[in-house]
Amino acid sequence: MSEWFETLEGIREKAWHLLGQGAEDSRSAMHLAALATVGLGGGGEARMVVLRGASAADGTLEVQTDRASRKVDELQGTPLATLLFWDQETSVQIRARVRIDVLTGDAVEDRWQKLPDAARVNYGGQPAPSTPLDDPARYRETAERDRFAVLLGEVSSLDIVHLGDVHRRALFERKDGFAGMWLAP
Ligand SMILES: Cc1cc2nc3c(=O)[nH]c(=O)nc-3n(C[C@H](O)[C@H](O)[C@H](O)COP(=O)(O)O)c2cc1C
Repeated sequence: MSEWFETLEGIREKAWHLLGQGAEDSRSAMHLAALATVGLGGGGEARMVVLRGASAADGTLEVQTDRASRKVDELQGTPLATLLFWDQETSVQIRARVRIDVLTGDAVEDRWQKLPDAARVNYGGQPAPSTPLDDPARYRETAERDRFAVLLGEVSSLDIVHLGDVHRRALFERKDGFAGMWLAP
């Protein structure tokens, strides 16, 4: 029997399994990702985010954020982004290139209802994110439903690196149904 990292199908299944765990389990390494966007000035931007959803069937990944944050402006300018994950335990890097839809209002009411109060205060706050402050004590946390946004990422490709005795790299693209191909690592 071959190991999961020896076949394209094995790698694709492992990647979605790890992403699913990441979305469900806060102890999973793939609970956190770097979300890279195109900055408003044209350069790259990146920040850590929590993975909130992963669907292998739809090929989507989900993140939640404050609608007033700069990343939302960036994504409205250029909806193409990358979510980058690393799992030390399995030695797997996943680079998920996504096209992001920013969902707000009624479209995210079901997710808002599931959030505990302690999490709701992450979406709101005065003044808005990135506003310069004379004094950090001037910042007030508030839960504002209208500031809650879901970044729904339609995966266009998964670029996966496995660091084993032999390093392997595979690329899975939506355009051919994520059939997959090997790349030189
Ligand atoms: C471990 C960690 C997890 C984070 N998770 C999120 C998240 O899920 N959503 C989010 O909007 N910001 C999250 N942040 C804060 C972002 O990294 C970032 O500082 C903030 O969203 C402002 O980013 P922006 O100005 O690029 O929009 C997290 C930060 C850390 C350190």
